[in-house]
Amino acid sequence: MSKTGSQNASRLGIIGWPVSHSRSPLIHNYWLETIKRAAVQREPTATGDWPKTYERCPIDPADDFATALDKMAAEGFIGANVTLPHKENAFAAMDALDTAAEALGAVNTISFVDGKRIGRNTDGGGFIAGLDEAAAKHTQQHKWRDNPVLVLGAGGASRAIIVALAREGVPQIKLVNRTKARAEALEGLSDKLIIGDWDARAALAQDCHLLVNTTSLGMAGAAPLEMDLQQLADGALVSDIVYTPLETDLLARARRDGFVPVDGLGMLLHQAALAFEVWTGVLPPVSDALRQKLVADLTG
Ligand code: ATR
Repeated sequence: MSKTGSQNASRLGIIGWPVSHSRSPLIHNYWLETIKRAAVQREPTATGDWPKTYERCPIDPADDFATALDKMAAEGFIGANVTLPHKENAFAAMDALDTAAEALGAVNTISFVDGKRIGRNTDGGGFIAGLDEAAAKHTQQHKWRDNPVLVLGAGGASRAIIVALAREGVPQIKLVNRTKARAEALEGLSDKLIIGDWDARAALAQDCHLLVNTTSLGMAGAAPLEMDLQQLADGALVSDIVYTPLETDLLARARRDGFVPVDGLGMLLHQAALAFEVWTGVLPPVSDALRQKLVADLTG
């Protein structure tokens, strides 16, 4: 099958299985519509080859992934996001990768360009942008980059976050996971990593200006995360990457104790914004209006 794509390439989408619950169509279609409207008001020809749709693209894990990508390209897709369970399949099917995707072995953003499949990973960059957005609302110069960080959990999200934190230049990344061997398996991701015991997490928070929970504890339906925050530095950022519920027990306690809570919507919105920029050249605004639309959809 051809990898050249159709003449009228104008489609975007999210690949997953299942993909019915993804909020990505809401986010990207909001930008496609609002940015096009603003551009057309300024300059009538500005959106000549602007993407028309952002769709849900279920790909059955039993099907051949590369063949499914070729079919999408032939049907007019110029790019797609990738979510569970396909991020590693996407990595294996790319012709070229950015450094983040290369480091993670996982792709969340595909572009179809001149018959080639280009893979990127915007998850870590989105996490950092979400942190900076939350920190900026609190203080102009937050010191999280200059101090040790504590990360809880060692799954796929943790990998992306560790790589991104190391790239930002944090001096030390303390990592703990219930199953220590899984944390130890990530040691090669950065020479800044120090693996600790899960039961020592409260003490390891000492001197940290950033705590990141990447475990499933605190998610709707899961037990809350038991974590004493006392040792954290004053004004530390406390980040929970889950967004159902939007305010986890951890974030509520962080807020109450005077830390800066960072909810999971920041990462979701900013990884999407970075992908949107890859496809269109426009870094879209993560506005309060969009955030509210997303919150209404999640809670409605
Ligand atoms: P991801 O979605 O980031 O890929 P995952 O692979 O599903 O995550 O992993 C979930 C994380 O939550 C893991 O770090 C897991 O710890 P284990 O590696 O020990 O399984 C963590 N987790 C889940 N339930 C937990 C619990 N009851 N106590 C502590 N950690 C837990």
